[in-house]
Amino acid sequence: MFCKAVLFAVALASLSSASPVTQESGSRVALHKRNNLTRADGVFDHEKAIKQTIRTHNKHRQNLINLKRNKGSEALNQGAEILPIRTYEVPSHDKRQNEPLTDESNDLEWAGTISIGTPAQNFLIDFDTGSSDLWVPSINCTSAVCTSKSRYSAAKSSSDVPKSGTFSIEYGDGSTVSGPEYTETVVVAGIKTTGQYFSPVTTLSNSFANDPIDGLLGMAYPGISQLRESPFFNTAMTQKTVPNGVFGMKLASSGSELYLGGTDSKLYTGSIEYHSVPGTGFWQASNAKALVGTTTAMSGFQTVIDSGTTIMYGPPSAVKTFYSKVPGAQVFDSTNGYYSFPCNSVPKVSFSWGGKSWAISAANFNLGKTSTTSSRCVGALAGQNLGLGTNVWLLGDSYMKNVYTVFSFDKQSVGFATLS
Ligand SMILES: *[C@@H]1O[C@H](CO)[C@@H](O)[C@H](O)[C@H]1NC(C)=O
Ligand SMILES: *[C@@H]1O[C@H](CO)[C@@H](O)[C@H](O)[C@H]1NC(C)=O
Repeated sequence: MFCKAVLFAVALASLSSASPVTQESGSRVALHKRNNLTRADGVFDHEKAIKQTIRTHNKHRQNLINLKRNKGSEALNQGAEILPIRTYEVPSHDKRQNEPLTDESNDLEWAGTISIGTPAQNFLIDFDTGSSDLWVPSINCTSAVCTSKSRYSAAKSSSDVPKSGTFSIEYGDGSTVSGPEYTETVVVAGIKTTGQYFSPVTTLSNSFANDPIDGLLGMAYPGISQLRESPFFNTAMTQKTVPNGVFGMKLASSGSELYLGGTDSKLYTGSIEYHSVPGTGFWQASNAKALVGTTTAMSGFQTVIDSGTTIMYGPPSAVKTFYSKVPGAQVFDSTNGYYSFPCNSVPKVSFSWGGKSWAISAANFNLGKTSTTSSRCVGALAGQNLGLGTNVWLLGDSYMKNVYTVFSFDKQSVGFATLS
């Protein structure tokens, strides 16, 4: 079973073999990845994939509500719309087989440990570049889904300050994640912030039941904050507890890391290719191009880089055009926008923002066979209207696993470098 203590592998970065020009002064958080959408028998986990899509849909729906409220309609992308909540119903023929297939320790986030309060209360957290709030379960949440998790108690902390206001995010199973607002001392990898806004949530959606993470720490711009307050990293910048307004992420099957306050030069080679972002909400780079082999399948679109999303999504019509360039591709699930291709010829997919072409490995593009006996495999790019805008793609882990990603508030840019 999953052991939280093992994950508490946080080290302050000080020793370095870096060249004289690179001063490493940030802090490392070891991230742990628990699973993917491919079952152990090599088959695409369709049900889990749909649940992930629904969570992604509803997360970004909330982001758009927040962005519109915080920054006005002009901050939304062209064609962005606040879509209805999407809900999941287990197909009746699936119900019986679902139970044994659900491995309690399986999950899809990149998690690491943080502490809240004085003395420290520890939580296993999903570091999410696709949202901007911090929440963990409250001691006052007594539902089964909460009691299986670490819960924050204000009574056990000397640094808690209750605030007015309520935090609330709707989820697709009809429930919400909601709770009061507090400020607290929050520490991530030795980086301490005081007076950090967060919510100890008293209701937690059932969609978090089989999920080992306790809560979420949003790392996008304040513009999509539901709390309407400075997110953790921005507070650390303001309080000057990080040397730079930059963090780097390596997401891989092993050695995953979040580096706060700079980039970890041991994890990449060559220079970082930066692309500017609007600075209003999402880590969104424009003028992207998707290639299949050397053929440009789509160009001139926006890309939101989201560590809290497992696969990649594009508008249904754009994704249809994309797969028309993939030899042998067919629709696999028209409702959820999945396509399949012959397993023996995984397309060579890459993205470019005018510089290098950043390739997605076959292993990262292939989500597994459509069934145990099939020779067709499902692609990690799905066509789905998430409401983000008519020309906006969402690039999650399936993309991020191939590159070192740099999120720079200092440069108001997102950057990519080659993994070492
Ligand atoms: C995905 O998970 C399955 C089952 O846990 C595992 O066998 C497989 O190696 C994993 N694949 C990758 C690319 O991590
Ligand atoms: C939980 O309830 C107790 C008693 O009403 C209260 O003192 C405390 O502030 C609440 N919240 C947290 C996060 O502990």
